[in-house]
Amino acid sequence: MNVLLLGSGGREHALAWKIRKSRLLNNLYIAPGNAGTALLGTNVPVEVTDFEAMKRFSLDHDIDMIVVGPEVPLVEGVYDYFHEDEDICHIAVIGPSGKGAQLEGSKDFAKRFMAGYNIPTASFKTVTLDNVMEGNAFLDSLPSPYVLKADGLAAGKGVLIINDLNEAKQSLWEMLNGKFGAASNSVVIEEFLSGIECSVFVLTDGRSYKILPVAKDYKRIGEGDTGLNTGGMGAVSPVSFADDIFMEKVRSRIVEPTVEGLKKERIDYKGFIFIGLINVEGEPKVIEYNVRLGDPETEVVVPLIRSDLLELFLAVATETLDEKILETDDRYAVTVMMVSGGYPGAYEKGKPIDGLNDVQDSIVFHAGTVNAGGETVTSGGRVLSVTSYGKSMDEALETSYRNIDKIRFENSYFRKDIGFDLRTQ
Ligand code: AMP
Ligand code: GLY
Repeated sequence: MNVLLLGSGGREHALAWKIRKSRLLNNLYIAPGNAGTALLGTNVPVEVTDFEAMKRFSLDHDIDMIVVGPEVPLVEGVYDYFHEDEDICHIAVIGPSGKGAQLEGSKDFAKRFMAGYNIPTASFKTVTLDNVMEGNAFLDSLPSPYVLKADGLAAGKGVLIINDLNEAKQSLWEMLNGKFGAASNSVVIEEFLSGIECSVFVLTDGRSYKILPVAKDYKRIGEGDTGLNTGGMGAVSPVSFADDIFMEKVRSRIVEPTVEGLKKERIDYKGFIFIGLINVEGEPKVIEYNVRLGDPETEVVVPLIRSDLLELFLAVATETLDEKILETDDRYAVTVMMVSGGYPGAYEKGKPIDGLNDVQDSIVFHAGTVNAGGETVTSGGRVLSVTSYGKSMDEALETSYRNIDKIRFENSYFRKDIGFDLRTQ
């Protein structure tokens, strides 16, 4: 098979690494890719939202399957674009239809979907400028803190958690008046849920599904989960509190009704469902849906998949996933992200990276790198994701930290406490 993978982060390098191992693979192209993916296939200068260029490239290179990394092309309808054009509808797209992608593209859509299928989640109310007073009244009815979410995609920045009631009302007003552009023309107000979070990934062909190893990511820049939110500073899998009892609740109360709900709504969904979960005293509740894999969770979840990933994707495309077995590794996997100093604020790019060839027993997934005249240099805030296996989480972490010590670029930073909150569980 000839595969075109969309995206350029650590998630896509991990997917490329796994797809490269498939017995079904002929050529692998990554659009636009990074210095890491260039070692596994051919990077192509096509933007992930330029569907016309994607069509031309796919026809010229006899592409059989498009694997979509990030959410934006999904929300913008890449699945439908290929599905509805007779020249390219033979190309399988791994990812949901535009309607399905609304699970991530609209928080209000996701909340109404959950309410419609009795999927446990925080209570909520959706507000626009037309019913601000109802929004304020809903805030009055809730205990502090208050959760305000821009309805649309806001590059991971559209969620505010505010302690003071008046401040929450003020922020609601600002959001409705364009604080996050059109994304916050509608705002979802939510009950605050308290607990520890984890990420559950489901692969579905729209009829059946497989649940992938559970992961936990570390979003804040500072140790002890302090400071600004980032794209993710590290991840571990499996997660100690997501035991068989918890996961059976997740399966029966959340995954099963989600897949059944999509079926009932006749939503075409052939891809990943990422369920952001919170464990509220042993009871799983959904914080959010995403319609893609997580980053950096992919850098631990994909290395734990033993099955041929392209074979699974092909089964998704042909709606025969129920005939496949998902084989997984029983070790731990962890990843620690090396980032540019200053991230998630301003940072410099173009720093040469040394020591990559000295790494032993870890897999280095590139997140923000480019090849500049034969040299690998930094090109983003998140730069490298250093993944290791171990018989325990700590053993795996030790290997990642040992290798991080060998990798150098100016002003690099990483968290030394990935997994800290799972040790006391
Ligand atoms: P989201 O984009 O919906 O995942 O929200 C971003 C982050 O805000 C989540 O990962 C949670 O840590 C936090 N969050 C979102 N909704 C809630 C909620 N209802 N209660 C508590 N924390 C929340
Ligand atoms: N690590 C969280 C995300 O990918 O949204």
